[in-house]
Amino acid sequence: MNYRHAFHAGNFADCMKHALLVWLQQAMVLKPAGVFFMDTHAGIGRYDLASDAAERTGEWHQGIALLTNPPAELSDYVGLVRALGLYPGSPALIRARMRPQDRLACCELHPDDAATLRRLFARDPLVSVHRRDAWEAIGALLPPAEKRALVLIDPPYEAPDEFARVAQGLRHGVSRFRSGVFAAWYPVKHRLPPREFHLALRHSGIRDIVAVELWLRAPLDASRLNGCGLVVVNPPFGFVAAAEAILQALLDRLGTDEAGAGFSVERLVDE
Ligand SMILES: C[S@@+](CC[C@H](N)C(=O)[O-])C[C@H]1O[C@@H](n2cnc3c(N)ncnc32)[C@H](O)[C@@H]1O
Repeated sequence: MNYRHAFHAGNFADCMKHALLVWLQQAMVLKPAGVFFMDTHAGIGRYDLASDAAERTGEWHQGIALLTNPPAELSDYVGLVRALGLYPGSPALIRARMRPQDRLACCELHPDDAATLRRLFARDPLVSVHRRDAWEAIGALLPPAEKRALVLIDPPYEAPDEFARVAQGLRHGVSRFRSGVFAAWYPVKHRLPPREFHLALRHSGIRDIVAVELWLRAPLDASRLNGCGLVVVNPPFGFVAAAEAILQALLDRLGTDEAGAGFSVERLVDE
């Protein structure tokens, strides 16, 4: 477990994942019934962008730093980032919009990161932090008592078989809770792994899947993070149009003039 999110917090991939996450959560808290939020790979919850780690890569300078004057499509997300002070990871973003009837379970396997996250939510009755394996937790924590759930799956893709594990995790999660909303982030370095991932999902038996991607350049050099994607199972009503608007806004501000910069919103499997 070498991956530490502190080096990458606030980069373009975080902006994409977090802007869509904020939209998904907002869509789910419109109805009064409580929602169970699950963050399977939670990290430490918030990040100091002035830290040595963040400055060593400087990735946030090409991400959240460029969203100073956000358009309407990004104003919810950027507004939360500003309000929360330190750059919020997914647990802090989710927690910010939770209501008393909602619940958040965070899983983090790295002992130091799990301890940091536990301290962050130590006195919070709505949040539980589990130092446990995400893939095991999906089986253990689903289905929730609440009738509605949003599950964010955001692994580090250190393992060569991570795409296959995410596809398997989605299958497992949906088999435990068919009506849950699942959002799984993935890197786009080279074209082939995401294509195979999409193919696996098309043949998974899971219904109602949309995949969105944002590319900074054509995914030809596998040693670089050229883009990223989010697969959403059971997307809330309006997701496709909202994702198109959010990705266009991100591309306008974070995109490069390199060949192949762009975005896609693709329905992989019908409802
Ligand atoms: C990409 S980071 C998460 C970032 C976070 N979701 C956010 O958006 O702020 C991935 C995290 O997963 C943790 N991790 C890696 N393998 C795991 C596993 N099998 N179960 C739970 N956590 C894991 C890593 O320690 C790392 O903190």
